[in-house]
Amino acid sequence: MSSPPPFIASSPITPSTTRRRKSAFTYKHLSQLSLSSTTCPLHIIAHIDLDAFYAQCEMVRLGVPTDQPLAVQQWQGLIAINYPARAFGLSRHVTVTEAQKLCPSLITQHVATWKEGDEKWAYHEDAFKNIHTHKVSLDPYRLESRKILATIKEFLPAPPVQRVEKASIDEVFLDLSAQVHGILLERYPELNGPAPYDDPTEPLPRPPTTALDWATDALVDLDDAETEDDDPDWDDIVMQIASEIVRDVRAKIYEKLKYTCSAGISRNKMLAKLGSGHKKPNQQTVIRNRAVQQFLSGFKFTKIRNLGGKLGDEVVAAFNTDTVKELLEVPVDQLKRQLGDDTGSWLYSIIRGEDHSEVNSRTQIKSMLSAKSFRPSINTFEQAVRWLRIFVADIYSRLVEEGVLENKRRPKTINLHHRQGAQTRSKQAPIPMGKAISEELLFDAAKNLLAQVVVDGRAWPCANLSLSVGGFEDGITGNKGIGGFLVRGEEAKAMNSTVNRETGGDNMVDTPPPGKRRKVEEGGITRFFGMRQESTGATDREEEGMESPYQTDAQEGVEQDAFEPPPSAQRGDMGKQKAVSEEEEEEEEEEKNEEDEHERYRDAAPTHALQQASIEQYFCARCNKSLPEYERSEHDDWHFAKDLLEEERQASTPVPPRPPSKPPAQHKGKGRGRPAGGTLGRAEKGQRKLAFG
Ligand code: CTP
Ligand code: CA
Ligand code: CA
Repeated sequence: MSSPPPFIASSPITPSTTRRRKSAFTYKHLSQLSLSSTTCPLHIIAHIDLDAFYAQCEMVRLGVPTDQPLAVQQWQGLIAINYPARAFGLSRHVTVTEAQKLCPSLITQHVATWKEGDEKWAYHEDAFKNIHTHKVSLDPYRLESRKILATIKEFLPAPPVQRVEKASIDEVFLDLSAQVHGILLERYPELNGPAPYDDPTEPLPRPPTTALDWATDALVDLDDAETEDDDPDWDDIVMQIASEIVRDVRAKIYEKLKYTCSAGISRNKMLAKLGSGHKKPNQQTVIRNRAVQQFLSGFKFTKIRNLGGKLGDEVVAAFNTDTVKELLEVPVDQLKRQLGDDTGSWLYSIIRGEDHSEVNSRTQIKSMLSAKSFRPSINTFEQAVRWLRIFVADIYSRLVEEGVLENKRRPKTINLHHRQGAQTRSKQAPIPMGKAISEELLFDAAKNLLAQVVVDGRAWPCANLSLSVGGFEDGITGNKGIGGFLVRGEEAKAMNSTVNRETGGDNMVDTPPPGKRRKVEEGGITRFFGMRQESTGATDREEEGMESPYQTDAQEGVEQDAFEPPPSAQRGDMGKQKAVSEEEEEEEEEEKNEEDEHERYRDAAPTHALQQASIEQYFCARCNKSLPEYERSEHDDWHFAKDLLEEERQASTPVPPRPPSKPPAQHKGKGRGRPAGGTLGRAEKGQRKLAFG
C-alpha cells in the first residue's frame, strides 16, 4: 500500500483517556470480518462507478485533452456527456443541435454501429443519418469495461480475499472486508488476540486515539448525535483502510488506462452505491456508520436501488412522500400493512441503511440481448432477417468474449421478441446442446423463431424485434466432450417444445394452450429463407427516432438487482407478483420502457382500418374466403411459410402429409391474430446447417 499511514500521530483528538468507553466491537465481529460476513457490523464495501463512462471511452480512444468538452451521440441524441461539457449546462436531454449552440467547442462523437451486411461494427462517419440501416454497438465500451475490471482484479489480492462484482458496464462492487481484516491485524498487533477468557463476545481493545487521515476523501457529515471529537472505533478505522485501498485502485485504473472514476465506501452495497454518486467526478465518499442516518435522510428514497421504479412509485403513492426523512416516521407495522410483510420490513430496514446483500463475484451475465426499434415499422421477412443477422453477429461476438468457444459458458435458450402494434410475442427455443455454438446455428434458430411468429399471423408491420440468449451455464470442459452435456429437467422440457408467449397491452399470458400450438420443424425455415432473395429495399424513412442503448441494446451488464429486496419487493406488485425470472424482469422492463416511445412513434397500423366500415377485400382461393386487401401480402407470406414448413416436415418424417392448417383469418379486436388450428411444436434435436449469407 503506497498510501500514508492511517494516523497522524501528532494530532490526538482526545485529551484524556479516562472517558473512554469500550469498543463496540468484539473478537467475534473481527473474525466475521475475515469471512466477509454480510451481517458483520464491520463489513466494508466499496462501489466504483466510472465518470461519464462512454464519453471517457471516446476521449481515451480519440486521445483528446482531458478538458475538451465531448459528448457521445446516438442518432440525434446525446447519451453521455463528459464533465467539461456538463459545465456548459449540457445533459442527456438536449439535442445535438442545442448542445452545439450551448457549447461551440463540443466534440460530438457518434457511437459505433453495425452496418447492414458488415461483419463487424465500426465508427461510421455518417452513422447518425442511418438509423434505419445501422444498429448501435456498445462493444467498444464493453471492451474498455473489461479492461478496467481486469485492472481492478489484478491489483487486489487473489480470491477468496478478493471479491469483485460487476454491477453494470461501468460499475463494480468490492467487498473489502477480508483484505481490510488482514491489514488491521498487521497494523494493530493488539488485535491478534486471543480474546480475554477465550470469550469471543469480549469487546476488542479500543483503537489508538488519534485523528484518522482521510486524505482527499469526501466525508459525509456525522449524524446529529455524533461529533468529530468522539474517538474513532474500529468501524471508522476499517472505513479508513478501505478508503486507502479504493484510492489506490482508482489511481491504478488511471495510471494504466487513463480513466477516472468515483467511489463510495460504506458498510453495505446500498450505501456504497449512493456514496459513489455523491461527489463526482474523480472523488470518493466515505459514509461512516455514524453518518448513515444523516446521509440517508437527505435523499429521496426513489434514489435507492430497487425503489427507483414501480415499487418506489407505489410507496410514494401509499405514503404521500418521496423523502426518506418522512418515510422514517412511518412505523414498521404500517409499512407492512400497506405493502405486505416482506416489502414493508425490507423498506423499513433499507431506509435505515440496513442491507445485507452479498457482493457476488460469481455474478455472471444472465442474458444477452440485441434489439432494434423500427420507425417506421418493417414489413417483410427479408427486412427482419437482415436485422436478425446483425443481432446474431452482435450476440455471437459477445458470446465469444464470454468464452463460448472454449465452452466455458454457454446459453441454453434463444428468444425472439416481436412487437406488432400493442402486441408483443415471444418465441423461445432451446439451443441444441450437442453442438458447438456457431453464428450459423444461432442464425438458423433465430430465423426459425421468426418463422413461427409469421406462421402465427399478423407479424407485420413490426415495430420492434429483439433477440436474446439466456440460461447461461458453465460449460463442461476437460475430459467430457461437448457431446457430453447432460440434458436435465427444465432443459429437457425445453428440448421438446418451443415456448410461446404473448402480450397484448399490459397482460402477459401464456399462450396458446397446447392444442393451439403449431408444429414447426427446426431447419425448415432455413430453406424458407434460403429460397427467397434478400431485397435491398429499405422502408420509407419518414420518422426520426431516438434510441437509447438501455432500451434497445445490450442486456449484458444491464444493472442487476444488487440489493436483493424481498421477492415481493422486486416487482413492486405489492404481493400480487408473478413468478418471473430476473431475466424476464429485465426484458419486461425494456418493453415497458419502449412502450412510451412506441406511443409516440406508433405507425398508423392496419388495426385501425379494421374499424372502418368499408375495407377493400380480396379472395384467397386456398382458404376459400375473403380477406382484407391490406392483409394480402402477409397472408401470402403465411401460405408460403406454411407450405415450406410443411414440406420440410414431410421430408423429415415418414408420416403421411397432412393438409396445412388454416392461415390467419380475420382478426377480431386488438392483438388477436392467431390462426386457428396447429399443434404443439416439437423441435427436433440438431438443426440442419445450411449455408446462408
Ligand atoms: N447510459 C445510457 N443511457 C442511460 C443511462 C446511461 O446510455 N439512460 C450510458 C451512458 O452513456 C454512460 C453509461 O451508460 O456513459 C454509464 O451510465 P451512468 O453511470 O449512469 O452515467 P455516466 O455517463 O457514466 O455519468 P456519471 O459520471 O454521472 O456516472
Ligand atoms: Ca458512471
Ligand atoms: Ca453507472
